[in-house]
Amino acid sequence: MSQVLRGHAEDLYALELEELKKQDSGRRPANWQLTPQSVVTYLVGGTLSNGFEVSPKYIGNRRLMEIAVATLTTDRALLLYGLPGTAKSWVSEHLAAGISGDSTLIIQGTAGTSEEAIRYGWNYARLLAEGPSEKALVETPVARAMKDGKIARIEELTRIGADVQDTLITILSEKTLPVPELNTEIQAVRGFNIIATANNRDKGVNDLSSALKRRFNTVILPVPDSMEEEMDIVKRRVESFEKVMEVPAEPPALQEIRRIVTIFRELRSGVTIDGKTKLKTPSGTLSTAEAISVVNNGMAMAGYFGDGRLTAEDLAAGITGAILKDPVQDKVVWQEYLETVVKSREDWKDIYRACKNVL
Ligand SMILES: Nc1ncnc2c1ncn2[C@@H]1O[C@H](COP(=O)(O)OP(=O)(O)OP(=O)(O)O)[C@@H](O)[C@H]1O
Ligand SMILES: [Mg+2]
Repeated sequence: MSQVLRGHAEDLYALELEELKKQDSGRRPANWQLTPQSVVTYLVGGTLSNGFEVSPKYIGNRRLMEIAVATLTTDRALLLYGLPGTAKSWVSEHLAAGISGDSTLIIQGTAGTSEEAIRYGWNYARLLAEGPSEKALVETPVARAMKDGKIARIEELTRIGADVQDTLITILSEKTLPVPELNTEIQAVRGFNIIATANNRDKGVNDLSSALKRRFNTVILPVPDSMEEEMDIVKRRVESFEKVMEVPAEPPALQEIRRIVTIFRELRSGVTIDGKTKLKTPSGTLSTAEAISVVNNGMAMAGYFGDGRLTAEDLAAGITGAILKDPVQDKVVWQEYLETVVKSREDWKDIYRACKNVL
C-alpha cells in the first residue's frame, strides 16, 4: 500500500476514471478526459453499461453538478460558494480530476497571495545571471493549466486581496497571460478553465469586484437536505478514513452516526427534529465535515484507547470540541441542550453522561 497520506483524486479513483473513459462514446470538449455526462457520473456515482459501479463523491442534488460541469464547458469560470464544510474543495478536486485527469494545479488563496502566485514569478538567481528569459520564468499552476488546457483550482478566492483577485480578469476574459518582460504571452489552450471556491461565513473576506464576478458562474453548495443524506455522507467518509488510516476499530454503528448527525442538525437549525423544542444555536458552523471529524476522532479513541467499538465516551470529547467554539456562550447553549433534549431521550443516557463528564 502506498505510504502517501492523502492521494490525489485522479490516483485514488484511477480505475473508475479509466472505466468511464472506456465506455464514453459522446463528444468530448477539447482536452477533456471525459464527456460532460461522464464527469457528472463520476461525481454523483452510478452503474455503467458493463455493470461497473462508480462510487458517489458528491452526495446531493445532481442538477448542481450538471450546472457546474456545463459551466466549465463555456468561457465562464466556476465559483463554488457556500458554508464551510459543504464539500466545495472536495467537488473542485473531483471536477478537476474528472475533466483534466489532474487535480494538482492548485493555488491556496490567502491574504498574502500575490500577483506572482497567480500569473508568474521569476527565478531570481537565473534572472540576475541571464536576464529575463523563458528559463528564468517560474510558472504558476494557473499558467501551467493555460498551457496544457487543464483546470486550475483556486481555493478560498475571497481571501485574496481584491487587487490581486483582479489579475484573473485578463486571464478569464482574454484567455491570455501577457509577459511584458519577454514581450510575449501565454495563451490558454482549449480545455483551460478555473474553479474557485469561497465560503460565505469568514470574516475579513474580500468581495469579488463586479468585473470579476461577471466572469464566474456561481454554484452554491447547500448543507445536506435530509437526515438520511447527511448520515450517508458521514458514513461513507468515515469508512474511507478508516481504510486509509488503518484504525483498529469496527465501523461505527449506524445508530451512533444517527445520534451525532441529529445533534448537529438540531443545533444548526435551532429546533429539535420533531419541531417541538426551540433551541439556542452555537457560534460554530457544525458542518457535515465536522460531524465526519467527530466520528473519525471517536474511531481513533475506540481503536487505540477503547475496545475497538465506538461508544459515547469515545465521541464525547469530539462533540464537545466541535460545539464549544466560544468557551462562554457556546457552553451555555450546549448545557441547555444537554439538559432539555439529550437527558430526556430514551437510549441517549450514555451520551448525556459522557458529555457531562468532559464539560
Ligand atoms: N454533500 C456532500 N457529499 C459528499 N461529501 C461531503 C458532502 N458535504 C461534505 N462532505 C465531506 O465533507 C468534507 C469537507 O469538505 P470540504 O473540505 O470540501 O469543505 P469546504 O466546503 O471546502 O469547506 P471550507 O469552506 O471550510 O473550505 C469532505 O471530506 C467531504 O467529503
Ligand atoms: Mg475548502
